[in-house]
Amino acid sequence: MERTSIRLGGVELASSVMNASGARSAERGEIYELCAVHSGAIVFKSCNRSGLDTPENLKNRGVEHFQSIASELTARNKRVIGSVVGASEEEFIDVARMLDRAGVSIVELNLADDYVTKSVAPFASFERLKSLIGGVRSETGCVLAVKVPPPRIPFEPRAIADLFKSMRIAVAVCANDLSKDLSVEIASGTVQGPARTLSQAHAFFKESENLLDVMAVGGINSGRDAYVAHLTGAKAVQVGSALMKEGAGALGRIDRELDSILGEHSHKSVSEIVGKVRFTG
Ligand SMILES: Cc1cc2nc3c(=O)[nH]c(=O)nc-3n(C[C@H](O)[C@H](O)[C@H](O)COP(=O)(O)O)c2cc1C
Repeated sequence: MERTSIRLGGVELASSVMNASGARSAERGEIYELCAVHSGAIVFKSCNRSGLDTPENLKNRGVEHFQSIASELTARNKRVIGSVVGASEEEFIDVARMLDRAGVSIVELNLADDYVTKSVAPFASFERLKSLIGGVRSETGCVLAVKVPPPRIPFEPRAIADLFKSMRIAVAVCANDLSKDLSVEIASGTVQGPARTLSQAHAFFKESENLLDVMAVGGINSGRDAYVAHLTGAKAVQVGSALMKEGAGALGRIDRELDSILGEHSHKSVSEIVGKVRFTG
């Protein structure tokens, strides 16, 4: 869909909608199934150096498995986003380097998982975060994204966003943790009540200064959800649970729904609505 195509971190994507890391994106068969039904980017399940059997949510076959799929897909001009976990800074750097060499467009560092929080503890101090990100940055040439943990961490979005900008992290993958009872009028992009921060994604967007793109993840089940996430600052959205429930077709459905809402409101491109939420005051 032309209307939903977007430039994320400088990378042209055919759609602003994509799978979330882990959702039907661990095995070769499921990755190829997603690619067959959706022209946007594919996000791999998070992987480490030699694979994990536990924790269950990070079960993966190791980076070499993803490296070979990435080489095949990028040879066919598919946009691939690799996702990295590790138990040490060295492992993060190694795995990111291997995915970069396999030709992925973006490497997403998964700093949001408990496994990483407990081992590398990237948010234990600013120096720790800087050292991890700096280490990966200096060993990779691709666009880098960081999946940030839920907003329990001791740093303000501004401090993290400033660090990302200074270290050439192009994309922050943030929680789309909008309040369940948020009332949005789609036609005007207006939210009831005074101007305020509506989600972690919105908080990072407000600090982005056009130097950092935001990708929102969490609770995207429909084109309307995607539209609201875009209004609150996301340039792209990731779909997890809906894809698990509905199957690979969920991505195309959400893309088509988003496209028709954009069309209904005379928008030629999704980029016209990014961050354009207004408040009734
Ligand atoms: C089956 C499954 C596996 C997941 N595996 C990963 C993973 O490997 N890496 C990661 O960063 N997130 C993983 N996640 C989290 C998703 O990427 C996403 O952040 C989360 O599901 C919230 O989005 P949703 O509300 O659309 O489900 C996984 C989620 C699911 C449902």
